[in-house]
Amino acid sequence: MIPVTKTFLPPKAEYQAILDRAWDTGWVTNRGVLVRELEEKLKDHLAVPNLIATTNGTIALQVAIKALGLSGEIITTSFSYVATTSSIVWENCTPVFVDIHPEYLTIDETKIEAAITSKTSAILATHVYGNPCNVETIDAIAKKHNLKVIYDAAHCFGVKHKGTSIFNYGDVSICSFHATKIFHTGEGGALITKDPDLHYKLYYHHNFGHKGQEDFEGLGINAKMSEFQAAMGLAVLPYIDEIVSERKRVIKFYRENLPEFKTVKIREGTSWNYSYYPVLFEDEEMLLKVKKKLEANQIFPRRYFYPSLNQLAYLDSEKKSVSDKIATKVLCLPNYSNLDESILKTVCLLVNEVS
Ligand SMILES: Cc1ncc(COP(=O)(O)O)c(C=O)c1O
Repeated sequence: MIPVTKTFLPPKAEYQAILDRAWDTGWVTNRGVLVRELEEKLKDHLAVPNLIATTNGTIALQVAIKALGLSGEIITTSFSYVATTSSIVWENCTPVFVDIHPEYLTIDETKIEAAITSKTSAILATHVYGNPCNVETIDAIAKKHNLKVIYDAAHCFGVKHKGTSIFNYGDVSICSFHATKIFHTGEGGALITKDPDLHYKLYYHHNFGHKGQEDFEGLGINAKMSEFQAAMGLAVLPYIDEIVSERKRVIKFYRENLPEFKTVKIREGTSWNYSYYPVLFEDEEMLLKVKKKLEANQIFPRRYFYPSLNQLAYLDSEKKSVSDKIATKVLCLPNYSNLDESILKTVCLLVNEVS
């Protein structure tokens, strides 16, 4: 069976050697030596000033909303994973969807200002498939209207925009280290901000609000990463260049062998991480035909993202013409390390046959 992605597993002995350090100390949680070491290594690798490892990317989004003190309406994209929207609702705010750009697939920044009301407190936008939003324009709009900016950068490990980490834009970025992501800790995530005061708030919010053992700075939750997760991250990190170059190889193959099919347009000035290969079919009918054909051959692509989030049953939201349409016709093809060229050939043959 060929899944849409396969978790990169480091050599077991290397993971175990790192785990041995937790055994030696008997310390497996509460920000032990492995979590702290991973944070330092990630700051260094990504060239970001502050980073807090969290237990997943969703809780990082919720902590970010809490730490920024957001309320009322949050302008967001309808084309993302459900966690982007559910985090807003979970934090008792109202998502206000703005449609997406038909080629970049990120929030259409030209439509943001029209969605701002007196209740708007922030913009929460997703860098889709690791492809950055128009960060300069979004940050300028936010400044003009005194709004906060959170970037859902779940897919963005290692992405750079105009020479700097994409995580350095906005007030705060979150990343996901889920097992399907390019860098992973099994489950996991991170909060990244350039602002030291905000970093302090994010830090205590993610750790029950603790300020020392017996004192509390304010409200908090448990979003801490465990030593087991950090050990996986420390074992995966040395392989990150290899993982990215493998995904690049796969995408090069798709680009060369599926030239008739549209994919996401990568924003100018971006050094991408090749995390996904979405194909935009002409319509849903064609997508379903391709999906059926691939599945009959034990190849399992994924409709990612589907449905458009404005259509979530627990929301009362209006249509978003571009996002509604794109969500019905986008399919992510298999992309992971060591994906054999013979399988890639089969995937392309089957996709091309349907066109
Ligand atoms: C765009 C986006 N945001 C948020 C998340 C949530 O991350 P996690 O699974 O680490 O909670 C994901 C996970 O797939 C995602 O794709």
